[in-house]
Amino acid sequence: MTQPIVEVHLTDADLTEALRTDARSGLTASPKWLPPKWFYDARGSDLFEQITALPEYYPTRTERALLESVAGAIARTAKAEVLVELGSGSAAKTRILLNALTSEGPLKTYVPQDVSATALRASAAEVAAEFPGLAVHGVVSDFTDTLGTLPRGGRRMIAFLGGTIGNMVHDERAEFLTGIHDVLEPGEQLLLGAGLVLEPDIMVPAYDDAAGITAEFNRNVLRVLNSRLRADFDPESFRHIAHWDPDNEWIEMRLEATRDMSVTVADLGFTARFARGEQIRTEISAKFRLPGLDSELRGAGFVTEHAWTDPDDRFALVLAARV
Ligand code: SAH
Ligand code: TRP
Repeated sequence: MTQPIVEVHLTDADLTEALRTDARSGLTASPKWLPPKWFYDARGSDLFEQITALPEYYPTRTERALLESVAGAIARTAKAEVLVELGSGSAAKTRILLNALTSEGPLKTYVPQDVSATALRASAAEVAAEFPGLAVHGVVSDFTDTLGTLPRGGRRMIAFLGGTIGNMVHDERAEFLTGIHDVLEPGEQLLLGAGLVLEPDIMVPAYDDAAGITAEFNRNVLRVLNSRLRADFDPESFRHIAHWDPDNEWIEMRLEATRDMSVTVADLGFTARFARGEQIRTEISAKFRLPGLDSELRGAGFVTEHAWTDPDDRFALVLAARV
């Protein structure tokens, strides 16, 4: 097998610096908030993998089944030589696509990209071992500001799966999709996986499972602050909340203080005070409707070539071409 290359555009020191900035603004704001990329240290990535196997968490298995049924069709039209995957995580589902793109098309290179160096190194090594003819070129970076550093050359397809697009608000999505447009050549494609709007009694349990894994995942952001910035959060004193916001059509994840507390962030030299019942917003997971997705893509300079959904209309895969 060819050893995978892993390029690091985001060192541990960069991450700590970015976390300092985010923690300073998020924990002094009212209401308090923290950006979601901080869930994903090694433990967070592992907890997310556990979430993907939960009975309540339908998105992963729905997207996997959908990929299985459409990967051949994608491969026959795509003609991609390079597959770039943003926020690739464990790249578990990607293998379905890699299989199709290598056996039915000219795929030569896979470029997984993630903020989580541990997840990226592990998945790059696994994919390289499973696909001996494929060059694997991993990139550790933040997909919101380093699209320009992705390797160039060869006809590309960018995949963004798992519904991660929903972890951005509308304006962030517009900027992100436009950024992808700008690094692609006309005719190159984007494969986007997005969760669809459903009944709240299906969506909410996916973000608030009975076994409490999602709660642990949510609280993990506090552990990351403890270890990276020498904060003294007591994660057990925060309750996990998943709330469906029908106006914005997103699930909002929050952590609620179960008692009055002072939390010191030693490396930032400040103390954040929490009143009992006070909440930190840690993530949104927006759900979509197909016409809305289509217009967001059009607004960013893409044309939808095909949109597939599962039989229960829970998840969509959209293949769009850069105009
Ligand atoms: N694509 C995988 C993982 C989805 S979870 C799947 O479908 O199962 C979201 C992934 O995006 C995680 O692996 C996380 O580490 C990564 N991620 C989150 N924010 C990121 C950012 N700003 N830049 C790069 N990767 C990010
Ligand atoms: N991209 C995933 C999603 O929106 C991330 C995720 C799943 C998540 N479960 C979570 C984030 C729980 C925070 C809390 O479905």
